[in-house]
Amino acid sequence: MDMMEEGSIAIAPTAPVRPRNRDVEFPFRPDSNFYYLTGFGEPEAVAVLAPGREQGEFVMFCRERDPQAEQWHGARIGLEGVCERHGADDAFPIGDIDDILPGLVENKSRVYYAMGHFQEFDQRMLAWIARARGGARSSGGPGELVMLDHLVHEMRLFKSKAEIDVMSKAAQVSAAAHERAMRVCRPGMAEYQIEAELLYEFTRAGCRAAAYPSIVARGANSCTLHYTSNSDRLRDRDLLLIDAGAEYELYASDITRTFPVNGRFSRAQRDVYSVVLAAQEAAIDTVAPGRTVDDVHMAAVQVLAEGLVDLGAVKGRVKGIIRNEKYKRFYMHRTGHWLGMDVHDVGDSRIDDQPRVLEPGMVMTVEPGLYIAPDDEKAPRRLRGIGIRIEDDVVVTGSGHEVLTSAAPKSIDEIESIVGSG
Ligand code: GLY
Ligand code: MN
Ligand code: MN
Repeated sequence: MDMMEEGSIAIAPTAPVRPRNRDVEFPFRPDSNFYYLTGFGEPEAVAVLAPGREQGEFVMFCRERDPQAEQWHGARIGLEGVCERHGADDAFPIGDIDDILPGLVENKSRVYYAMGHFQEFDQRMLAWIARARGGARSSGGPGELVMLDHLVHEMRLFKSKAEIDVMSKAAQVSAAAHERAMRVCRPGMAEYQIEAELLYEFTRAGCRAAAYPSIVARGANSCTLHYTSNSDRLRDRDLLLIDAGAEYELYASDITRTFPVNGRFSRAQRDVYSVVLAAQEAAIDTVAPGRTVDDVHMAAVQVLAEGLVDLGAVKGRVKGIIRNEKYKRFYMHRTGHWLGMDVHDVGDSRIDDQPRVLEPGMVMTVEPGLYIAPDDEKAPRRLRGIGIRIEDDVVVTGSGHEVLTSAAPKSIDEIESIVGSG
């Protein structure tokens, strides 16, 4: 509310419930901005921030207690509960919002609202504002609609101690899941059976959802960056790339590990893995206050480009390869992204077209990779079909950084001693 202009109001709905098939809904997940502001996890809720409102500045619309509905669908916190437990100053039944909201808005000059996320709510919002303005000839009501996203996203970019604690838990659970996948892995298993092991480890630790669909990609499937069908069988000499992270209290983790299905890297696999690991370590070392997201990316690119020359995959001088972006044939994505309630979290990564400077409390992934397509006839034959990514979650601290996901094994020796051992 301190960030809002005088005479303004902010309106933040939670996400709608979405149908999965007839009579069955997807598990409900609150909208990240709404949950960040309220910590309230029930569906059908709208938070209103009205600085200066005498009867209460933080108003919540939510479901009323209803013993019959609760017997079928579970407990509701109700109007009193949302004030007591979530800090609302005033609460109204969600069913009354059409009658009450225009009145809250009518004497304001500006409304903060994130247009474009929930179509149906957008329509209702426009109708309420039109009603508050009192028709085309009136000069009353709000004249300005401002995106609420920007204010909230800038806050979400900087994680508090409490948020880092929650993210650490998500990270540790995910690291344990990757280790479990390594232990149980055997040639002949299906990719989805490995996925089941990951989800088992998430769920038993209290993480009831994955932060994003798990990628379990054997062999050349790893060269498809968003492979999620996870339906192939693992073969003896394959590498397996797993990109999977748990969500805990709506905060994501995001880990990738790549390891040999039979527990031994082949010579070619080891050569490429060593390059990606060195690139990732160089990039992680760059994460510190005052450095930029581009510094982190370029630290990885430098090592990858050198490695591609050594591997015989790209010819020429490293400087020229970087300038002409010839490495992009094998490394076509960025080295990281913000991480938080959304796996690709909010917050500007460029300001005035300059790369964002890192500050304490920011959390980012560091995830270089090399992907040599199976049909790339210009690449050395021994490297074709190898895809490797290594991804960790890193917090910027006052003096440098902390890796939240360091418990997930990644050195060649560790991996070779763990894979297939359980
Ligand atoms: N798992 C999505 C990503 O690594 O960005
Ligand atoms: Mn990522
Ligand atoms: Mn990932």
